[in-house]
Amino acid sequence: MARPLVTALAAVVLLAALPAAANDDDPLALGKQVFTEKATPSCTICHTLSEADASGTIGPNLDELKPTVEMIRAAVTRGVGVMPAFEEALSSEEIDAVARYVASAHGGD
Ligand code: HEC
Repeated sequence: MARPLVTALAAVVLLAALPAAANDDDPLALGKQVFTEKATPSCTICHTLSEADASGTIGPNLDELKPTVEMIRAAVTRGVGVMPAFEEALSSEEIDAVARYVASAHGGD
């Protein structure tokens, strides 16, 4: 009697764990995290990007500018004008993820 219950419980635990594991591997989820939290100062302070609920106005509105992955990667790595470089602060994986996230979030590229 107890065994099917244990099997069922194990299946529930496995299923519950799956979405979290998928999230960790999702570069867009990582990119959003970089955009909203990991980058310091946060991209959201300076940029508007509706997908991230960001409404900064110091830098260009990314929904309107629709930068390509390459443009974003270059801007984040080396900085542009008053925008700081994040080369030291973020890993290349994080820069890549945020570039892909922003490009997909603005619906261009
Ligand atoms: C302190 C404010 C500030 C922060 C923080 C900031 N930016 Fe910027 N960003 C700017 C400004 C200002 C510009 C325009 C610079 C210029 O054209 O002279 C810009 C430009 C850009 C551009 C356009 C580059 C181009 O080639 O025209 C992209 C893309 C961009 N930022 C993405 C990001 C991302 C992603 C982050 C977070 C990792 C970020 N920015 C953080 C202020 C900021």
